[in-house]
Amino acid sequence: MKIAAVFVASIIFSVAAGAADVPTFNKHIAPLLYQHCATCHRPGEVAPFSLLTYEDAAKRAKLIASATERRFMPPWKPEPGYGKFANERRLTDDQIALIRAWAENGAPEGDPGDKPPLPAFTDGWQAGKPDQILAMPSSFAVASSGHDLFRCFLLPLNLDRDVYVSGTEFRPGNRRIVHHALVYVDTTGAARARAGRDGGYPCFGGPGVPGVNLIGGWVPGTVAQPPSNEFSRFIPKGSDVVVQIHYHPSGKPESDQSSVGLIFSGPPKRGRTGAMVIGGRLDIPPGDPHYVVKGQLVLPRDVELSGISPHAHYLGKEMKVTAYLPDGTSIPLIWIKDWDFNWQGAYQYEKPIGLPKDTRIELEYIFDNSENNPRNPSHPPVRVKWGEQSTDEMALAFLVVLLPTPDDADAFGRQIVIQYFEAFLYEGMSIDDLPFEIASPQRERLLQALRFFDRNGNGILDSDERKALLRIFGGNN
Ligand code: HEC
Repeated sequence: MKIAAVFVASIIFSVAAGAADVPTFNKHIAPLLYQHCATCHRPGEVAPFSLLTYEDAAKRAKLIASATERRFMPPWKPEPGYGKFANERRLTDDQIALIRAWAENGAPEGDPGDKPPLPAFTDGWQAGKPDQILAMPSSFAVASSGHDLFRCFLLPLNLDRDVYVSGTEFRPGNRRIVHHALVYVDTTGAARARAGRDGGYPCFGGPGVPGVNLIGGWVPGTVAQPPSNEFSRFIPKGSDVVVQIHYHPSGKPESDQSSVGLIFSGPPKRGRTGAMVIGGRLDIPPGDPHYVVKGQLVLPRDVELSGISPHAHYLGKEMKVTAYLPDGTSIPLIWIKDWDFNWQGAYQYEKPIGLPKDTRIELEYIFDNSENNPRNPSHPPVRVKWGEQSTDEMALAFLVVLLPTPDDADAFGRQIVIQYFEAFLYEGMSIDDLPFEIASPQRERLLQALRFFDRNGNGILDSDERKALLRIFGGNN
């Protein structure tokens, strides 16, 4: 009798414990979805369905479990252990297991009292009220289906004086179709000359005109950077802002009128500048599933690295950037195992990484130009070189570099230019392939110089010709 009572009690106990173990939407799943998914999975946002209510989530429980298990969702490309980034969007293994357990146990709703309040989202400016708002002059129509569209829009600044900008925020007009945006400043008037009457022109990998500077960017889920008086940016009178926007059709006819907000401030106290690691030697044979490109940048002085944005187009497969310090140690800066052009991000380190002078930052990117790459824009595959079009490629890592003073940042910029020339003017390059990036105002002069140094006139930059050319720029090799 006694034994039976213990037995029954233990069954009751274990059933109760089992029930307590089954995660519920209200207690366990909703907080996860609100924190990690709702930025995109709510009405009017980029994701194809909302995940705010029990009904929305429960009917997709299995799909949610598999998407999170495959780490397809939330979208976050960098591998853990290769750079520690701010605002990392990764679920822990425990969180993934919790979602799996919920889905497998019939996705119960749970006690209404456990349910957290709906998250509050601001539709307004996140980084503070802008001093100047630049909107696209008219709304741009995007058809319900078809190819993705890449377009640049000119947003005249119409400044009557020079300014310093401490904060830049891109605000998509229609989040259902804006897939990413890059914000540039053009001090040369080139974009203005290119823009049509609606203030826009087609452009794919960048701003479509040479000599402009990247000042901001946006992908779905971006957390706007607060303004920084320490690192404000000089923008001379007469400059224009150019935004490059990637539109993805939503299944319905849509239109977009996005805007950029600028916050002004005084001059910078510290130095901040951009730098590029370039894999310029890029000539991918058709059908090659594993083409490796390397590039490097040697730091001419001590810096802090605060952010990194790897960049390639549709053939990019895997990208790794590593810092090799002069003392022989190395620091992994980022590793993306499954590059997706649609989810390119600007990654901020949780804490800036100190890198001493003579550190060599190396990129190693792998491209898949085979028929098996579902993103390959060419069927059958074709030979692919460096360029701005969706059918061209790039192998770049943009770095955000911090220095003690603005003068140091300027000096750093001047010191590294030669390395860009070295990266693009590689031995064996065909002279007509001078890439767009080198375009700058000196493009014509550089082409002349290249032809002049092509002593044997074969149209190829041979080893000795390259040495002679780089010597006049002050390079080492
Ligand atoms: C940064 C925006 C963003 C975030 C954050 C995000 N998603 Fe998504 N999600 C998308 C988009 C966009 C799609 C459509 C597929 C695509 O474009 O890659 C999608 C698709 C999905 C799908 C459909 C997958 C399939 O195989 O059809 C599921 C399920 C999903 N998301 C679940 C989640 C869950 C769960 C989270 C949070 C843990 C989450 N998502 C976070 C943007 C996001």
